[in-house]
Amino acid sequence: MLGIAALSPTYTLHSETFMMRAFIQNLPKAELHVHLEGTLEPELSFALATRNGVKLDHDTPEALIAAYDFHDLPSFLKIYYKAMEVLLTEQDFFDMSWAYLKKTREQNVLYCEMFFDPQAHTGRGVAFDTVIQGIHRAQVQAASELGVESQLVMCFLRELSAESAMQTLLASLSYKEWIVGVGLDSEEKNNPPIKFAEVFARARSEGYRLTMHCDVNQLNTLLHIRQCLDDIRVDRIDHGINSLEDPAICAEIARRGLGLTVCPVSNRFVVQNLTGEEIRKMMALGMKATINSDDPAYFRAYMNENLFALAEEAGFEQAEIAQLVRNSFDVAWLSDERRQHYLDLLDRRLG
Ligand code: ADE
Ligand code: ZN
Repeated sequence: MLGIAALSPTYTLHSETFMMRAFIQNLPKAELHVHLEGTLEPELSFALATRNGVKLDHDTPEALIAAYDFHDLPSFLKIYYKAMEVLLTEQDFFDMSWAYLKKTREQNVLYCEMFFDPQAHTGRGVAFDTVIQGIHRAQVQAASELGVESQLVMCFLRELSAESAMQTLLASLSYKEWIVGVGLDSEEKNNPPIKFAEVFARARSEGYRLTMHCDVNQLNTLLHIRQCLDDIRVDRIDHGINSLEDPAICAEIARRGLGLTVCPVSNRFVVQNLTGEEIRKMMALGMKATINSDDPAYFRAYMNENLFALAEEAGFEQAEIAQLVRNSFDVAWLSDERRQHYLDLLDRRLG
């Protein structure tokens, strides 16, 4: 486990901030909402572009970062899909996944559920097998060499047809042992959960767990959350901040013990704040809010930077941070035995 020395440059920090960062660093943590393609760092993009002979629109990683101009979901997705064109071979998917899993080890994130977007690759002529073999190899290596456990959640792109999602679901069945659940991401406008009702019903019958994005401040967001609860009967909701606008929805989420994978720094790009008050309200209402990084290479914040931001900018106390971390293990798609293992580690760390 990394200690205080791993935090740099610590000597410039106020001592309370330093103590809080050490507390966060040393907590064993879980991440439940991270898009693997959203972990593609600019430096790796350039290395893969060179290896694969792909021409990027920018000349340096710094110029690429300077061009990150997102303020809503569509402006983000445009950059996100363009950047992933460098991912072509099994080794590329391995390298991207391995880099993320090494980062989680550095941050003491011991367990992660990672999204991947197969249609964003099969649509460019990259085979499903190429994508999943590369990711899976990194997962196996991370478990044995880093002690980081991870599971895969396959997302469907919601602007594509339900037929395309169903084809992807059927293609995934040969790799069922490697996938714990399915999700729904990408362009939410005019692409409600109900469009994929049949696909998700089939996914459930195949044994997959179900989640869907209800991104912050989307058109018809309350209708989308309702459909997630009543029609799809999801096991979790990704984001779901706007559920706070409807007390009946909040009560239902709390009653079912559904996890909400909130992404504070990601939210800040859309609503200009970390949604710290909303996270506090969820906790006060007994809703299982968890903290996640979403697309850390783009939002320039992994798990710990999200928690540092909540502490330093929204005044979260140690007990609140610990509760959020506990919620992640509570709602993770783990066996009872593995869940208890992580909760015991957390309790031991908290003393
Ligand atoms: N795909 C990658 N990141 C996403 C996000 N934050 N929302 C919806 N789809 C995504
Ligand atoms: Zn997301």
